[in-house]
Amino acid sequence: MTIERAAVVGGGTMGNGIAHVFALAGIPVTLVEVDQTRLDQCLATIQKNLERQLAKKTITQDALVAAKGRLTGAVRLEEAAFAQVVIEAVPEKMDLKKRVFKTLDAACPPETILASNTSSLSITELGAATSRPGKVIGMHFMNPVPVMRLVEIIRGIATTDETFNQVRELCVKLGKDPACSKDYPGFISNRILMPMINEACFALMEGVGTKEDIDAVMKGGMNHPMGPLALADLIGLDTCLYILEVLQQGFGDPKYRPCPLLRKLVEAGRLGRKTGKGFYDYP
Ligand code: NAI
Repeated sequence: MTIERAAVVGGGTMGNGIAHVFALAGIPVTLVEVDQTRLDQCLATIQKNLERQLAKKTITQDALVAAKGRLTGAVRLEEAAFAQVVIEAVPEKMDLKKRVFKTLDAACPPETILASNTSSLSITELGAATSRPGKVIGMHFMNPVPVMRLVEIIRGIATTDETFNQVRELCVKLGKDPACSKDYPGFISNRILMPMINEACFALMEGVGTKEDIDAVMKGGMNHPMGPLALADLIGLDTCLYILEVLQQGFGDPKYRPCPLLRKLVEAGRLGRKTGKGFYDYP
């Protein structure tokens, strides 16, 4: 099956970047959001990010115009039914994702691949919520999607070789480098990354260092391009908290317990860059 059309469900931090990458790679894509106001915000973010790439000369004016022409918006999930692959990028909540997968399963032809951009949740469980577990797979893009090359591909217990191979080829077509993970909580990336971010929160909460010092140690000393607290702000503190809860519950191991300071910031609505405040302020 050739992928001639894609759909992305949820146009937040990740979804708008995923739609952006499909449109630039020459694949028409429909972005589905909850309502017109939110959809307009998400499409405006894609426009701004394409313009930023143009200003940096990483894309041409022609490429920008062509990409915009391949991008459409929708506020009904059923409009994803024209796509051969649908990528779900709604918040990291199993109940919400299952609802989206059930609706997509009812609306899309049986051959449509249903992929999730989940950071940590079970692909096997999402697949079991549909009538096509063989066609359900994890496509875990990295943030910011237009810049980061990795896509972690996660096979659920029932994902077929055919689905896996189609998605791997698709990643290459999108200009990405695929890596494969088995379906365990947090996969490879967040099983390793989130404990580090969580430990940085504990170090801050216990006063071991200031946020600037904690980030400076990991940047200057470990050669990380960003410190863990700045990275948490980029990811979204709510998303970090959800992932840690999935790790803690999935492995039943207290070493993944989320830092109370992280929980408090989320309760305060300080979710990082997307709300203008997290560990740092983003005026
Ligand atoms: P976000 O909160 O920035 O965006 C989620 C979007 O989904 C919002 O725009 C919301 O309006 C929309 N939405 C909610 N319910 C919907 C529905 N029923 N139909 C259509 N749209 C709906 O979340 P973010 O950060 O983009 O995360 C999305 C997924 O990507 C999560 O599973 C997360 O774990 C994963 N992820 C996040 C990364 C990050 O750095 N933020 C990195 C890699 C994966």
